[in-house]
Amino acid sequence: MGARVDRMSVEQKKSESMPVFSPELAARLDALVLKYPVKRSALVPMLLYAQDEVGYLSDAVLAEVARRIGISELDVRSVATYYSMLRFKPAGKFNVQVCTNISCMLRGGYEVYERFQEELGVAPKGVTPDGLFSLEEVECIGACCWAPAIQVNYDFHDELTAESVPGILDRYRNLAQNKEKNA
Ligand code: FES
Repeated sequence: MGARVDRMSVEQKKSESMPVFSPELAARLDALVLKYPVKRSALVPMLLYAQDEVGYLSDAVLAEVARRIGISELDVRSVATYYSMLRFKPAGKFNVQVCTNISCMLRGGYEVYERFQEELGVAPKGVTPDGLFSLEEVECIGACCWAPAIQVNYDFHDELTAESVPGILDRYRNLAQNKEKNA
């Protein structure tokens, strides 16, 4: 029991001393806070950059961002929970966000969303077992004129129908396969 506790505390210390961000991201965040007259204004972009690198806002990420800005973790968390694009659980490699706000809803947004659920075999907020895709319903993504619209990571796809869903997924599957081959 004593040995187990010792081993746990060694492992915990090891993970605590490991940097949360890559040196590149750390440098980027250092530069970012200098751009604002008040450090706190850098909070949301900092969280977005951190999420891009780590995949989600883990406890360690929230603590590190709080330390860099000089505010409490609770303050960071209360801001972060306001934004639907910020995540607290790992997403798939491709995070599919389907807008079902009014313009998209009127032009078939829910049919598109349901088709994604069927094709991926996941429920809302689910992640496919291979970790390739995650799916979520979101509020307006600013593409109302071309509704219904979705966003996959930072790519937009618009004027969709339920029938266009399999082709979109195939495109990302191919992208992932090609990246693997070229790695
Ligand atoms: S309502 Fe869907 S993009 Fe605006």
